[in-house]
Amino acid sequence: MSDHIQIERHGAVQIIRMNRPEKKNALTRAMYTGMREAILSGDADASIGAHVFFGVPGAFSSGNDLQDFMAFATTGNMGSEVIDFLIALVNAKKPLLAGVDGLAIGVGTTIHFHCDLTFATPQSYFKTPFVDLGLVPEAGSSLLGPVLMGHQRAFAFLAMGEGLHAVEAKEAGLVYKLVDTEELESTVLSVAAEIAAKPPEAMQISRDLLRMPREDVVERIKLEAKFFAERLQSEEARGALMAFLTRKKG
Ligand code: COA
Repeated sequence: MSDHIQIERHGAVQIIRMNRPEKKNALTRAMYTGMREAILSGDADASIGAHVFFGVPGAFSSGNDLQDFMAFATTGNMGSEVIDFLIALVNAKKPLLAGVDGLAIGVGTTIHFHCDLTFATPQSYFKTPFVDLGLVPEAGSSLLGPVLMGHQRAFAFLAMGEGLHAVEAKEAGLVYKLVDTEELESTVLSVAAEIAAKPPEAMQISRDLLRMPREDVVERIKLEAKFFAERLQSEEARGALMAFLTRKKG
């Protein structure tokens, strides 16, 4: 498992922590695999009642590692780690919670379309710069986004890349509650423990009833991934990725 993904236990709650602070939690292929394995093993463990995603102070995640995207763009080999993780996310049997502090970019944002409860600190910021990178929305966000926030807000967010501050993300339905920084993790863990203490079978059926059918979401993820892979090879994407990777920091 990747060192950049740390799995912890808090009673009946499994914590999946992204821990690559030096890159603002940019996600590598190994990190996707680590998170997928944690979801699968946590779902198979009867003593776990909920999964929680955490990042590090100031960065939930800056999205997919752009160096990896550049490698995909050059070799044409997308690998299966990202899509395997996304499918595991959709198929998760137990409730998914998240605690966000700071940056949530790309998949660091779209993961919340799959969470049952996301808590965020007031300084959190959600953004999906897909089109500016020559890419398209992913992780089922093109299907789940308009349902959650309506077409126009989803268009501004997912197609225009207009960022949402924490308060706006809460208004849009992407965030359940805002919590002060020092209380973020304890609040999420306490709510996750409350969920984990409920009758698990009734919880699972109720959760499934509330969510969009898994097969529809998986089908959309695969469609998005087809366009995404094509776009990564485009001049638009290569130019944008090169601009980020060769930028001069002032
Ligand atoms: N992939 C790879 N490396 C990333 C990264 C990403 N998605 N996001 C940040 N990093 C790296 C930076 O290159 C930098 O590395 P370095 O110190 O070796 O140069 C380090 O993380 C810190 O980032 P930096 O840009 O210096 O911090 P910042 O606070 O000024 O800005 C971001 C943070 C996240 C706003 C900015 O890094 C950014 O825009 N990243 C790209 C986000 C993105 O487009 N994600 C993909 C969405 S599909």
